[in-house]
Amino acid sequence: MLAPSFQMLDLFAGCGGLTRGFLDEGHFRVAAAVERDVSAAATYAVNFDTAGQHTFAGDIAAFVDVPPADVVVGGPPCQGFSALGRRDPADVRNQLWREFVRVVRESGAQMFVFENVDRFARTPEFQLLRRAADEGGELSDFRSQVFRLNAADFGAPQKRVRTVVVGSRIGPVVDPVMTHGKNPGAGLEAWRSLRQAFLEGPVVLEPDVRDVWLPESAIDFQGVPVAGPFKLRDLHVTRHYDVLSEIRYAHIAPGQGRFQLPEELQYPCWRRHSSGAGDVLGRLRWDQPSVTIRTEFFRPEKGRFLHPQWENGGLQVNRALTHAEAAVVQGFDERHLWCGSKAAIARQIGNAVPPPLAAAVAAAVAGRLNA
Ligand SMILES: C[S@@+](CC[C@H](N)C(=O)[O-])C[C@H]1O[C@@H](n2cnc3c(N)ncnc32)[C@H](O)[C@@H]1O
Repeated sequence: MLAPSFQMLDLFAGCGGLTRGFLDEGHFRVAAAVERDVSAAATYAVNFDTAGQHTFAGDIAAFVDVPPADVVVGGPPCQGFSALGRRDPADVRNQLWREFVRVVRESGAQMFVFENVDRFARTPEFQLLRRAADEGGELSDFRSQVFRLNAADFGAPQKRVRTVVVGSRIGPVVDPVMTHGKNPGAGLEAWRSLRQAFLEGPVVLEPDVRDVWLPESAIDFQGVPVAGPFKLRDLHVTRHYDVLSEIRYAHIAPGQGRFQLPEELQYPCWRRHSSGAGDVLGRLRWDQPSVTIRTEFFRPEKGRFLHPQWENGGLQVNRALTHAEAAVVQGFDERHLWCGSKAAIARQIGNAVPPPLAAAVAAAVAGRLNA
């Protein structure tokens, strides 16, 4: 184990996907983390701040005692940028990058890592962030590099493409090193499949699970009661599905979606639209990585989130992914504990940066800080 030598700040820290990757890489320790959502902040703290010293559970605008750091990492909420969001340029969430820039400046950091959805690179805010790191900008002594990274290339069983901007005033970083590829070879392993992730360990999540709920448990987090902490296995929970829903899901084989439903099983609102998102009510495939996990992965009607187990005449698992499965798809393992309601934990999971991707970025950053 390497001695951690660089101080990091994690802004918009969520459940700590970025921090998990940076700590796993081995060169970093956390000086402070900022997260407004109490459940997410509690999850962060039970994993990385058991002494309760560096988790600021509040609005980033109120985070004024900025400690010195070598690197500031963060991914502001993507709803303003995401293709699925409203993309409103006046959305206050789109201004949060300015707070990010402020903290980078006040911390005296040598480097920053700004993570966001793929389409962030095509937004006005992206141009403004890059301009801040240009001559005359607030971070004019920084130079920025932009990477488009797929979590599957770094060992997560998920195709999730993200824009990662690395800013540095001490020189460029090397490209984060891929470990996996769609077409393996040349030192790359094949993308991890859902079969490997769910059935071949290190965590085995049996497909046939029904009617399981979160256990009763709560902690006091900074004076607020929050459910948890829950282990990964506690999150292998299901919802109650009505009979008609299960009949619908039973018609959908791996790789298929709502268009495969017979006319009489279509939702009435769909009958009027023969086009639209084909991923709706989609079923995943055992031999591929998952599609991008979002915050409502537990609702089959929200995407391609049906469990991949489906045999014609054999075992069919007619439910969405459990929270535990979604966390594994994101690259979390049994070390990570979770706090909050089921919906709150789903948001934390869906919003996280996959730790294996974060670890690869951390290695690139550490390489430059060590140079
Ligand atoms: C995309 S998530 C970050 C995920 C995180 N980087 C990870 O890897 O797990 C964005 C987070 O920003 C938090 N957030 C939104 N507005 C905020 C604000 N004004 N101040 C602090 N946190 C905020 C949200 O609650 C959410 O957890």
